[in-house]
Amino acid sequence: MTVEATYPDLKGRTALVTGGADGIGRATVIALARQSARIGFIDIAADAGRALETELRATGADVAFACADLRDIEAALAAVDVLEARLGPAAILVNNAGHDERHAFAAVTPEYWDDRFAVNLRPMMFLAQKLAPGMAALGGGAIVNLSSTSWMKRSADLIAYTTAKSAVIGFTRSLARELGKDRIRVNCVTPGWVMTPRQRAERLTPERWAEAQEQQAIKGAIEPEDIAAMILFLASNASRMCTGQNFIVDAGSV
Ligand SMILES: NC(=O)c1ccc[n+]([C@@H]2O[C@H](COP(=O)([O-])OP(=O)(O)OC[C@H]3O[C@@H](n4cnc5c(N)ncnc54)[C@H](O)[C@@H]3O)[C@@H](O)[C@H]2O)c1
Repeated sequence: MTVEATYPDLKGRTALVTGGADGIGRATVIALARQSARIGFIDIAADAGRALETELRATGADVAFACADLRDIEAALAAVDVLEARLGPAAILVNNAGHDERHAFAAVTPEYWDDRFAVNLRPMMFLAQKLAPGMAALGGGAIVNLSSTSWMKRSADLIAYTTAKSAVIGFTRSLARELGKDRIRVNCVTPGWVMTPRQRAERLTPERWAEAQEQQAIKGAIEPEDIAAMILFLASNASRMCTGQNFIVDAGSV
């Protein structure tokens, strides 16, 4: 069971989460709601997004969902406008959305390569660019970007994904320097293999489970809540002097 910390400074703060309808993003949205933050989340999955919004509002949470495909930057920025109009300027951005669709090296076309970057990297840049002035006006903020241990493990059959995910670390480091003067902190969270509903449904086999357990220093399933716990710490001023860093949550695999 993940231990739930309380961060009083998150109460009433506006946080935007991409890919918040499922998996790690969903766990992050729920964790932020439990801190009484005001949460806006963007996702391409309309039904799942609306269902989570309804579920959380029933508990009294101040949450709003906007449906958009983050590959369409104009649509993503318009979704931010809608959410900020409802929730106020964001002090926290969690660049979580991503997709680890498998692809054979030989089959990758220029269009497919660009599409994977449009899902896994490009929205991080343009959402940060959009939100940074508002965060600066608030006196500071926190941006958390999601990478993956897959590139560290030299994983095959997903080279466009691993390349984009390794770039997230360089992006994080430069962005921290760009925005530090405005007290905006930028950090990266790098999960190992996390047992989200999609991973359980599409990737989990007895062989892969055994291999992952062999690699992990701490045995057992890494849950979405374990990643959300690190994201919360980096969103809170509890980590006020952490910026430009990468925080790996992989039970000691890499
Ligand atoms: N689950 C893992 O094992 C794992 C490991 C390492 C890194 N990660 C990273 O963590 C992040 C979250 O992964 P997850 O496993 O929770 O994924 P997931 O597939 O369970 O959830 C991702 C969410 O993002 C949304 N999304 C995907 N493409 C989108 C788009 N174009 N526009 C808008 N929304 C979109 C999906 O609809 C979904 O709700 C990703 O960046 C992923 O690369 C996950």
